[in-house]
Amino acid sequence: MRTKIVAGNWKMNNNRQQTEELLTTLSARLPETNAEVMVAPAFVNLEAATKKLSDSSIEVVAQNMHFADSGAYTGEVSAAMLQSIGVHTVILGHSERRASFGESDELLAKKVATAIKNKMRIIFCFGEELQDRRAAKHFEVVKRQLSAALFSLAPEAWGQIVLAYEPVWAIGTGETASPAQAQEMHAFIRKTISGAFNESIANSVTILYGGSVKPDNAGEIFSQPDVDGGLIGGASLVADDFIAIINAI
Ligand code: PGA
Repeated sequence: MRTKIVAGNWKMNNNRQQTEELLTTLSARLPETNAEVMVAPAFVNLEAATKKLSDSSIEVVAQNMHFADSGAYTGEVSAAMLQSIGVHTVILGHSERRASFGESDELLAKKVATAIKNKMRIIFCFGEELQDRRAAKHFEVVKRQLSAALFSLAPEAWGQIVLAYEPVWAIGTGETASPAQAQEMHAFIRKTISGAFNESIANSVTILYGGSVKPDNAGEIFSQPDVDGGLIGGASLVADDFIAIINAI
């Protein structure tokens, strides 16, 4: 049985008070579920979030980190800093980081290596842009993103990896990949990992879908055999919606 995960990526939303309020509501109303539930607040609110959730099963996740262990990197945050406040999982490679902050496949390979070395769990995001899909290059793009960041890892490192397929054209647009499109890509991802490593790794890695997951489409997406949960943006900021999505898994 693969681990199921529903993770909320809050992006640059919610100040300290709003963070605490939303977490209070979520932890009080968290439904019984077999899935791991995670939230990724902004850096400045991570410590408040870990304190607020100290008695909760909801895990606090960071949205990013730097590849260096420490040093002259103004404005950046290291793996050790995150670990020291009780954050042991990090989102890497989100399409907004790739597009707006110039994060390349090569840079992400370094971040992944650092996170692995520091015993962090990684939610590794990737996905094609609309032009790639229109040109029928989506499989090729996804394979390149996976292979650049993950295929030189030691097989044991896969225990620390969660994948999140997020077609860029579906993020924050209200446009979702159809359940069939999500399933097709998730199956392709497993096949690609099986080819690069082995079937056992491919079958045990959790693969999330992300991109405009909402209460009304979550059930159908999550019911696809190779979809193990979701990375949720906008809908994770609304307690009722996030809870409905957790209930859909
Ligand atoms: P969205 O964002 O659910 O708002 O489309 C998903 C994401 O960016 O992870």
